[in-house]
Amino acid sequence: MTHRFEPVIIGFLCNWCSYTGADLAGVSRLQYPPSLRPIRVMCTGMVHPDLVMAAFSGGADGVLVLGCHPGACHYIEGNIKASARADVISVILRDIGIDPGRFEIKWISSAEASVFARFITDFTKRIIKLGPQQVKPGKGLIQGRTDI
Ligand code: FES
Repeated sequence: MTHRFEPVIIGFLCNWCSYTGADLAGVSRLQYPPSLRPIRVMCTGMVHPDLVMAAFSGGADGVLVLGCHPGACHYIEGNIKASARADVISVILRDIGIDPGRFEIKWISSAEASVFARFITDFTKRIIKLGPQQVKPGKGLIQGRTDI
């Protein structure tokens, strides 16, 4: 008997935009895979890279940071900060042997339920293609860094 790989994707979703978009997708009964484990955050700007690494070390096969479009962040430039951190996260993932394709940051508004459903479907397909994530980054891998 072969087991079908069902990926676990941790998503840090901004309360004001993407979390509401996800909610709307649910209310609208849009179909998307059950792979996403959403974690509501007030702003993508509060998602420190250590949280992303903790998700991977905890067994996530993929990690998403989803928030408000540029110019729409409720904390002015939280998403700009998050975007800069995403670049750093991709470099670190490559360094420690995790395919950076397992991580993505994307802007999805509260009205974009169909964008949300399509994106989760596509990202899940990508992770299925990559297979289970084997590398477990150490806890606090980048603690002590003050420049990110
Ligand atoms: S409030 Fe949504 S990304 Fe900042």
